[in-house]
This record gives sequence, C-alpha cells and structure tokens, in this order.
Amino acid sequence: MNILRRSILSVPGHRISMHEKATTSAADVIMLDLEDSCPPAEKVAARALIASSIQNLAWQGKTLTVRINDLAGPFALQDVLTLIPEIGHQIDTLVVPKVESAAQIHYLDHLLTALNCNLGIEPIIESAQALRDASEIAAASPRIRCLVFGIADYSASINMPLSSISGHGENDGIYPGDPLHFVYSRLIMCGKAAGLKVIDAPYGNFRDPEGLNSSAARSRALGFDGKWCIHPAQLDAVNAAFSPNPEEIERAQKVLAAFKTALEAGRGAAAIGDSMIDQASVRMAEDVMARAEAAKA
Ligand code: GLV
Ligand code: MG
Repeated sequence: MNILRRSILSVPGHRISMHEKATTSAADVIMLDLEDSCPPAEKVAARALIASSIQNLAWQGKTLTVRINDLAGPFALQDVLTLIPEIGHQIDTLVVPKVESAAQIHYLDHLLTALNCNLGIEPIIESAQALRDASEIAAASPRIRCLVFGIADYSASINMPLSSISGHGENDGIYPGDPLHFVYSRLIMCGKAAGLKVIDAPYGNFRDPEGLNSSAARSRALGFDGKWCIHPAQLDAVNAAFSPNPEEIERAQKVLAAFKTALEAGRGAAAIGDSMIDQASVRMAEDVMARAEAAKA
C-alpha cells in the first residue's frame, strides 16, 4: 500500500501522555519508540504500554509503527515476541535501528513469517557499514517499505565532531558545504534504486522554525519523501515541505496540458514561456500531481 510518510512523529514508548498527545497530532505516521528515547529500565513496561495504547487510544486512522531495539542487542527479540502476537495486525511496520547487514533483515523477515505476521520493515541506516551496504539492505526483503536516515548515530559512527547540541542536522557552518551531502545522496540513490521511499532524520532544535524549514526544504530538494519529527510543533512545517504547493501544482497542470497539445500536433516537446518541456518534464509533473492527490486524501 502506498502510505503517506511526509511526517513521522517519534514518541517515547514509556510516556503515556505523549502517546495521548500524538493521537490528535498532524503526523502522517506515529512511531512508538522502544529504542533510544526509552531508557533500559523502562523497556519491559514500555512494551506493555505501547500494546495497550495501540489497542485502546483513538488513533483517528493514523498509520502506526513501532521502533524496536537493535537486533544485535539484548531487547529486540523480546520486543518482537511480545508485541507481534498482540498488535502485529494493527501496525504498519517495525522500524529497525542500527541495521548493519542484509542478513539481519533476513533474520527478522523469517521471524515475522514464523509468527504468521505480514508486517513491513523500515531499516534505519545509521552507520558507515550500513551506508556502504545500503543497496543490499534495501533489497533484503519484500517487507521493506522505506529507508530511514539516523543522523545522530551515523555521525557518531564516523566520529564526526558534534556540530550542535543535539547533533540532529543543525549546520554550524564550520564545513564549507553540507557535511552530510554525500550521505543523503547515496542513501536516496540506494533507496530509490530499490523502489523505496527514503525518509530523513529529524531536525533537533524544536524551537527553531527557520532552521526546521530550511532543513525540510533541503531534504525535499534532494529527493527525500518525508522527515522524522521529534516534537508535534514540527509537523505542520514538515507536512507542508513534503506536499506540493499551489504554484507547483499549477505549473504541473500547465506542463501536462502543454505537452498533451504538443503530442496531438505530432511534436515531442513544447515550450512554456522560455522553457522547453519534454517527456521527462511530464514525469515530474505527474509525480507532483500524485503527491498532491495523496496529500489531499
Ligand atoms: C536516529 O535514530 C538517529 O540516530 O538520528
Ligand atoms: Mg539512532
């Protein structure tokens, strides 16, 4: 199913008040987190709380996902065994952090099959090894819905100096250019080559709307399909950044109409003002219209 994933709100698994708040938020997807926002001492209680919230809160048709713990660590197996029988049919995917290889995805795929569960998988790419092997990871299972970028863990994995308090994409200007440009482009290339959506990491400062706007606009400009959010206040800006605006829609409609007229006249290209358009422009215009339709729905 082609689910809208413009904004993904990350919600700590052990905080019931945040689960409740998320139900009325503007997020396309709510991700209940058992990993890094949930302290080790709370993991067991958080599994139960997540199951109960998913079953009992009024989610208003939102897509729900759960981030389990690292498959190589001590919690993930029990996360899966506890949650899948209870709420496996009510969520869209398991979000899997710190994926290091296609073999880990095969393991989870088999485990879910053994549990008779048809859930999707969202690997988070957040280490040098995972980025190197992103193509294999992206193609490791038909369950994979999208690739997600984990900016903080990736930065830690390559020993990048913290360029901000949160390490979530605020640019301090030390490096002339975007220090993560190659990472974004490689991840997008590997994900799209496998036919997947690719989701950007969150912007860390939730009291900096300007920084958030430019971070989301940059993500969209590179080809990302959506962005994680760490606070409900970030959702409207992120949804807007990943939805075509009225000017884009108007331009797309013009392109489609002009090209249709050109084709009818036996030509393979047309002009709008001083700009030439051809079949590739039509594909871009069709993409804009499809995203506008999805956002409207
Ligand atoms: C998210 O998991 C990150 O590491 O940024
Ligand atoms: Mg991480």
